[in-house]
Amino acid sequence: MARALASVCLYASVCTLFLAAFAAPVSLDIRTTSGTFRGLSTGNGTEKWLGVPFAQPPVGSLRFKAPVAITNASRTVKDAFTFGNACPQEPSSSLGAPLSEDCLFLNVFRPAGTTPSEKLPILVWFYGGAFMNGAASDPQFDPTCKRVLIQRSVATSKPIIFVSVNYRVNTFGFLASSHVPAEDLNAGLLDQRAALTFLQENAAAFGGDPSKVTIWGQSAGAGAAEAQVLFPTPRPLFRAAIFDSSTGPFKNAPPASRYDDPGFPFARLLAATGCPAGPASFACLQKLPFEVSPFYRTVFSGSVRGLNVPAAQENATFDTFIKNLLIDPTTVTQDTLNTINSLYPPNDPALGAPFNTGDSLFDRAEAWYTDNMYLAARRLLFNKAAPLQPLFAYAFREFIPGNDPSLGVFHGSELELLFGHFPAVEQAFAEQMADFYINFINDLNPGAPWPQFTLETKQVLQLMRDNITAIPDDFNLQKTDFLDSTVVLGQFQK
Ligand SMILES: *[C@@H]1O[C@H](CO)[C@@H](O)[C@H](O)[C@H]1NC(C)=O
Ligand SMILES: *[C@@H]1O[C@H](CO)[C@@H](O)[C@H](O)[C@H]1NC(C)=O
Ligand SMILES: *[C@@H]1O[C@H](CO)[C@@H](O)[C@H](O)[C@H]1NC(C)=O
Repeated sequence: MARALASVCLYASVCTLFLAAFAAPVSLDIRTTSGTFRGLSTGNGTEKWLGVPFAQPPVGSLRFKAPVAITNASRTVKDAFTFGNACPQEPSSSLGAPLSEDCLFLNVFRPAGTTPSEKLPILVWFYGGAFMNGAASDPQFDPTCKRVLIQRSVATSKPIIFVSVNYRVNTFGFLASSHVPAEDLNAGLLDQRAALTFLQENAAAFGGDPSKVTIWGQSAGAGAAEAQVLFPTPRPLFRAAIFDSSTGPFKNAPPASRYDDPGFPFARLLAATGCPAGPASFACLQKLPFEVSPFYRTVFSGSVRGLNVPAAQENATFDTFIKNLLIDPTTVTQDTLNTINSLYPPNDPALGAPFNTGDSLFDRAEAWYTDNMYLAARRLLFNKAAPLQPLFAYAFREFIPGNDPSLGVFHGSELELLFGHFPAVEQAFAEQMADFYINFINDLNPGAPWPQFTLETKQVLQLMRDNITAIPDDFNLQKTDFLDSTVVLGQFQK
């Protein structure tokens, strides 16, 4: 045996293979502050731990409350082979796990054989879903699919660990009222913070470097990531952040007590559940079964597709669409609505409604919504934050073959590439997109040809399969300047 080893080791590369074949497998049992968990080898270059709890179940008297850390972890090894429950929300077939209030779980995916000494950078994923739905177990968020994220990071010698996090949504995560204790407001964001705190204590055991955490979210998940950047913590929980199509958080929000007023969400919730108004409301809502549907119901209404409104009523219907998206529509003036109407006039491809679907109201509403929710919000953030730290902006403009042409490059399209759900023609572009992200997670810079966004140059990277190029950040500028004006921001209570 010794002879065989000696002779094989004349060739360094063969020797490595030989030793690897005889080396004991790295144990997939990992001890954390919330228990010891046995991971799973996927057989395709990755390992995963699913359903790792990062806080006590927010049930009973903990419902609607800030998450509480686990301090009484059991020492028995638990299989972490299946996703933890999705948080309460409207039932859907795409969640990948049962619904339950006991839902504060995260999932760790890493390159196979990662050892604790490797100290890999960590990417933490917060799903979107309008703060109303979403789950880390959703099969579309598999970081191993088509080898685009984790295996790609290994192939480019910039390996990363991926962690996806559940957080409470809708009423369970964002109950607002004067009867909710201030320290429990935005419990869903506090869940994310609890997961990040858990990672500070436990990521090293998985081979991660807790000082190299990047948080990443899309849509509401990106708005949440921005909130994590803005609200200080006693110690840093991450060093970088990626926001895909973020929705804010720079809208004006009314104080929590406003939600108690007649017609506002807390009052509507009490009316729908039969719970009494006043100080007893909170305890009453805590005792209801979690499946009560008013807990999940969207506060906003929003589709204008195919309404076939007569031209004479189109502007008024557009106004109503806008007002229905706001918590407090009484603060928007008709002047502001008229200006929006004229900035996004009835369908004329040469003017403000660019999609030319033949559905004028739909085109206007979509054009305004995209600018108001995403482009204006991003410009506001970047223009304020550029002097404070390095920023990189992109405009994703790739229409992915097979998608609905009338939706164009829709909200969330880029995730199809980054999470490996795309036609073969997009493979190289998806890998390029992933490389930008992987570079940023490793080096805090996405790499050439992506320029830093500065107030002097204001450049964003256009992401298109055959046209990745830096462009000036000046498209739709008149519109976003209006939407970002102090007067309009003050009127949009969202
Ligand atoms: C830890 O404490 C919680 C809350 O009291 C309890 O529900 C849970 O069963 C305990 N876990 C263990 C492993 O003792
Ligand atoms: C890797 O394996 C996991 C678990 O079996 C699976 O979910 C994933 O799709 C696989 N990825 C690839 C690229 O085959
Ligand atoms: C709707 O608003 C546009 C833009 O301000 C305007 O040009 C058009 O005349 C209005 N249509 C009606 C029917 O009022």
